Amino acid sequence: MAAPTNEEGPASEPGAAPYGNFPNYSRFHPPEGRLRLLPEGLLRQLFPSDARPLLGLDVGCNSGELSVALYRHLLGLQEGKGSPEQPADGKDLHLLCCDIDPVLIERAQQSSPFPNSISFANLDIMDSSSREPFLTSYLSRFGRSTFDISFCMSVTMWIHLNHGDRGLVEFLAFLSSQCRYLLIEPQPWKCYRAAARRLRKLGRNDFDHFRSLAINGDMAERITQILTRDCTMELVCCFGSTSWDRSLLLFKSNGSNHDGREPSEQQQ
Ligand SMILES: C[S@@+](CC[C@H](N)C(=O)[O-])C[C@H]1O[C@@H](n2cnc3c(N)ncnc32)[C@H](O)[C@@H]1O
Repeated sequence: MAAPTNEEGPASEPGAAPYGNFPNYSRFHPPEGRLRLLPEGLLRQLFPSDARPLLGLDVGCNSGELSVALYRHLLGLQEGKGSPEQPADGKDLHLLCCDIDPVLIERAQQSSPFPNSISFANLDIMDSSSREPFLTSYLSRFGRSTFDISFCMSVTMWIHLNHGDRGLVEFLAFLSSQCRYLLIEPQPWKCYRAAARRLRKLGRNDFDHFRSLAINGDMAERITQILTRDCTMELVCCFGSTSWDRSLLLFKSNGSNHDGREPSEQQQ
């Protein structure tokens, strides 16, 4: 296994992944490092009375290892045991997982053990002209207008570096408008420096926005401020930090349109 460098990628592949689209990401930041922080029965705690299928959105899913592991963990399915039809947790969960890198998505699709419940799609979440029809079309298959929960794991730095402060704020606003709960694992600022340093070592320029980012410093705190101040979300809890020093934060929407049903259904 490649030893984790102080950030983001094996030293043998620096700069090869401008969006964080590392081909073997889960080998150096394994899903278990995040999952062990999440309590068992989390879905039951968050959605005690929801009988309908729960819908999740995983943004920046890479090749799907964390998405599949999250699905198993949230439903209480042990690897090799149980079936998605008989989850120990008693919940029915459908995940839509997207990534900007089509090669990673193809790999995720080919290896998915739950093709009926987990969908992988190539999508640039920053492309507003394609994301909205795409997500709306998925949600409408379930008669819904928002997701119950979104996952944004180790993605915010890449959005921030590639789209600047404005892009990060817009991304968080969009994501929070799409879900009732948001589980987010922001990269700390030292990861930004490491990513920019790697690029410089390759003789390339910094990420377009790196030097002009005014949102910097304690990124978990800054992202919490944006979500709670500008995006009508409240911080439910911090589940702790991974061994690679990233906090796992759960937010809940205070917005009005978050029972997730389509308007016609709400009127009934
Ligand atoms: C560091 S990896 C994290 C993978 C996975 N979420 C995890 O934590 O194990 C970041 C992922 O975000 C994806 N990504 C970056 N920018 C994106 C965008 N604009 N739209 C969709 N995916 C994006 C990258 O391709 C990459 O696979």
